[in-house]
Amino acid sequence: MDQAQLDWWRSAVIYQIYPRSFADANGDGMGDLPGITSRLGSLKSLGIDAIWLSPFMRSPQKDAGYDVSDYCDVDPLFGTLDDFDRMLATAHSLGLRVLIDLVPNHTSDQHEWFKRAVAASPGSPEREFYHFRDGDTPPNNWQSMFGGPAWTRLPDGQWYCHLFDSSQPDLNWENPKVQEAFEDILRFWLDRGVDGFRVDQPHAMGKAAGLPDHPDVERAGAGFIEGEPSPPMWFQESVHPIFRRWRAILDSYPGERAMCGEAYVLPLSFMALWVRPDEFHQTFNFRYLDSPWTAKDIRKTIDESFAAFGAVGAPSTWVLSNHDVMRHASRMGGDFGRTTASDGVGPNDKQPDAELGLKRAVAATLFTLGLPGSMYLYQGEELGLPEHTTLAPEFRQDPTFARTNGERVGRDGCRVPLPWESNVNESNGFNQTGKSWLPQPASYSNYARDLQEGVEGSTLETYKWALAKRKELNLGHGTFEWVNELCSDTSLAYRNGSLLVIHNFGDDVLESENGLIHLEANQTVWLEQS
Ligand code: BGC
Repeated sequence: MDQAQLDWWRSAVIYQIYPRSFADANGDGMGDLPGITSRLGSLKSLGIDAIWLSPFMRSPQKDAGYDVSDYCDVDPLFGTLDDFDRMLATAHSLGLRVLIDLVPNHTSDQHEWFKRAVAASPGSPEREFYHFRDGDTPPNNWQSMFGGPAWTRLPDGQWYCHLFDSSQPDLNWENPKVQEAFEDILRFWLDRGVDGFRVDQPHAMGKAAGLPDHPDVERAGAGFIEGEPSPPMWFQESVHPIFRRWRAILDSYPGERAMCGEAYVLPLSFMALWVRPDEFHQTFNFRYLDSPWTAKDIRKTIDESFAAFGAVGAPSTWVLSNHDVMRHASRMGGDFGRTTASDGVGPNDKQPDAELGLKRAVAATLFTLGLPGSMYLYQGEELGLPEHTTLAPEFRQDPTFARTNGERVGRDGCRVPLPWESNVNESNGFNQTGKSWLPQPASYSNYARDLQEGVEGSTLETYKWALAKRKELNLGHGTFEWVNELCSDTSLAYRNGSLLVIHNFGDDVLESENGLIHLEANQTVWLEQS
């Protein structure tokens, strides 16, 4: 096996499928596994190496499947275990690897473990699966990431902890029984043949002993800001031995199974501790996604990324969009009235400029695809899909929307089903019936895949071209150096092997002194040099 085969995850382009919204075979308006199977050919032709599926396990769907009630079964919304096996076999026959989402920080409140805990008495071994505490008031000042307190009280007076929705109780990872149960879950899916896992919220699994207050009450529900003292609910050292054991389990299987942690840990030198050689293979480089798209910020982030991940021998895993943030084609579409893009746009925001956003987004993607390392793409970005302020409140399902009384619109905007065939029906070919759990905005008929297929200069063909070139030049396993004479306040240029990549961040034309290089505003060029 050559090196590229051996270390596939170091250079892989991994495409995130959000099963609810990718393709719907049974026409009920909700995407499903047979739908995914039927469209895998289109992903093969896109030129990706692997897919990651957001959760499709049994779930009451209070947080779109990130509230799992049975880790070893498929939710009937998405099909059956047989449908999963067929999807996996089809993906493998096309040469695509498959990562699945594992959600270990919390279960659904409908999981057997939680139901048993609620039925048992305070102090029982069943309650030891979760964090239960006594008290007349919430046991500490922690707040839910989706808004409101991180504690909910049972009728018997005990409180349980949930860093997300009250329907997502946090597991007690100090309990060896929880640890053993998850090792069995890993084996269940590895035995079925999955190539690995994307692990949800791994940095939340450990809690500081005694569950102390967050030192800053204002920040007790807001995740983590760099430079602050480590909060008691994030990145506790106690989680690392767990992942080392998981890594050993993955390594005991043939075929280089891999795991990517959604470890939202900063600075990058801390994040890199999660991808030491005996822990995760990858972690998403969210610093890159979050960096303002300016030459100065992006250069700093890239330098820090190579330094931090390089120090532990891990690749950087670049990412610009996913199911939790505003699509980058909208994020980059000028002023939308807010500085944060963790939620999509709603009725109180300005509509981002679709043309400008798309131009910048494609240029940003091209700039990123030239970098060595692995890259995650989010379904629909290859079509250039934007988000819209028009998504009406009655359709919104993200718990953030309800828990903040609509103050934060949440993440539904980036989760709208994909348009495949323009105007064949109301869902543009997402299914045969036109139904769609979130309605597509009117503009989506213009972005449908069939309108872009084979059309030179379309977003889809640009992605295909870049992915093919990336593979041909083996860029993922490549090298990196800045080309300083072409870098400025509004431009960055780097070399990866024989490829020179230049990006113009500015709104003016960029021209080199000798006139040989000419870039439009917000443009990236790839120049092959011998
Ligand atoms: C997932 C989210 C989910 C949260 C809680 C995340 O980081 O990506 O979609 O709401 O974890 O499971």
